[in-house]
Amino acid sequence: MAARPSNLPGTARRTRSTRVRALLGGAACTLAVVGTIAVVVPDASAAASTLGAAAAQSGRYFGTAIAAGRLNDSTYTNIAGREFNMVTAENEMKPDATEPNRGQFNFSSGDQIYNWATARGMKVRGHTLAWHSQQPGWMQSLSGSSLRQAMIDHINGVMAHYRGKLAYWDVVNEAFNEDGSRRNSNLQNTGNDWIEVAFRTARNADPSVKLCYNDYNIENWSYGKTQGVYNMIRDFKSRGVPIDCVGLQTHFTGGSSLPSSFQTTLSNFAALGVDVALTEVDVTNASTSQYAGLTQACVNVPRCVGITVWGVRDSDSWRSGESPLLFDGGGNKKGAYNSVLNVLNSASPTPTGTATASPTGSPTASPTTSPTASPTTGTARRIVGAQSGRCIDVPNGSTSNGTRVQLYDCNGQSNQSWTYTSGRQLTILGSLCLDAAGSGNGAAIQTYSCNGQSNQQWNVNSNGSITSVQSGRCLDVWSTSNGAQVQLWDCSGQANQRFSLS
Ligand code: XIL
Repeated sequence: MAARPSNLPGTARRTRSTRVRALLGGAACTLAVVGTIAVVVPDASAAASTLGAAAAQSGRYFGTAIAAGRLNDSTYTNIAGREFNMVTAENEMKPDATEPNRGQFNFSSGDQIYNWATARGMKVRGHTLAWHSQQPGWMQSLSGSSLRQAMIDHINGVMAHYRGKLAYWDVVNEAFNEDGSRRNSNLQNTGNDWIEVAFRTARNADPSVKLCYNDYNIENWSYGKTQGVYNMIRDFKSRGVPIDCVGLQTHFTGGSSLPSSFQTTLSNFAALGVDVALTEVDVTNASTSQYAGLTQACVNVPRCVGITVWGVRDSDSWRSGESPLLFDGGGNKKGAYNSVLNVLNSASPTPTGTATASPTGSPTASPTTSPTASPTTGTARRIVGAQSGRCIDVPNGSTSNGTRVQLYDCNGQSNQSWTYTSGRQLTILGSLCLDAAGSGNGAAIQTYSCNGQSNQQWNVNSNGSITSVQSGRCLDVWSTSNGAQVQLWDCSGQANQRFSLS
């Protein structure tokens, strides 16, 4: 126990592990999928004999978490040095390790791992800068602006030390609840913008490293948490908040397993213009089919840049009771090792992703749009969001041109009563029309004096989407909260773009 550099006691680890299992068990992600993922025909000439070399054939990496306290175990270092070409510090670069006292940084264990890895030509992924867990005691007791400042100072202090040296940083870890809302934490309580502040701070601190958001239970495309994270990344990309990558932890447990939509999720994140990676893989009892399937999903998505397993041998795992890794406690290769290696060896040298094109739910897929379902015209109705149950609302009933509309609790009042006209306008508050302030992704939706132009004409479709006649894009909301703004976005068929006129 003394060797473990984390400040989390064993019971806390067990609690966390149990919680992940419980959450996964409750999630709608129970199918093994392997059969649904396209398998690329192997290239017999390209078989490599280690995970890192096999992944490198298609331009990817294969990594592991490393614990500083095990670097004097030669079985451990022999396997790790032979098989992997990317390393994540399991605990040593977390806030409790790197800033044990406010303003006093300690990089001794982190550097031990960094030096061990880079001496062997491996790259290093930083993990993690802002997280509700594994905060030093002094940080746990801060709140408000003083915590916000401490977070900024922490990011600046740690990133200055590793500036120019790391491949990726997990800037923010695990900030969402299972339903896609933000996780309550001392960081969240400093204001909803804490995540973007963390990313902007990080970009300034080290412009050379790729900045990632990292989380668990975001592998199943139809899961609320996945959608919550997806919407945040999309928001960041549309507003120019710096973000380069999303890490999917990929902790698969007993009650759940590889979701059939995993590849779709990876493709959909990638389509936002970010790299994706599997960052902390472990699978209960190391199911060979799940290991093969998760590897294949990554290999099938060009922007899936690599896979990291969360430890070397089963005995090194934070979930050691579940034997979830690729090597047994004696350091022998398990069946799952061979299944991963075979899939990596079968990847096309240059990732194309063609074999795979995401089957369903792609954000760029155009859903069926049938304007024929237009509701009866001339009757005042509410426009209710399918995801939120909230109404499209003109704040304070303002009649000023250019008032941006929002989601708000339905109240039956005139600032939520829209009338669909035969000219396909949605009118409100007299002679105001729902109006797209532009035609691109992210264009604001506002009210404006009706003028008969196409940016004020809407098709109300049978699939629940409302599309702009001018751009063909859909009404879209960022979140389900009161005050969530409405914008235009490429139609995705997702619930945040479905509404009913009622
Ligand atoms: C775990 C480590 O493996 C344990 O040694 C430590 O006690 C707790 O943290 N998600 C993460 C990782 O992002 O940092 C966690 O690592 C596992 C879950």
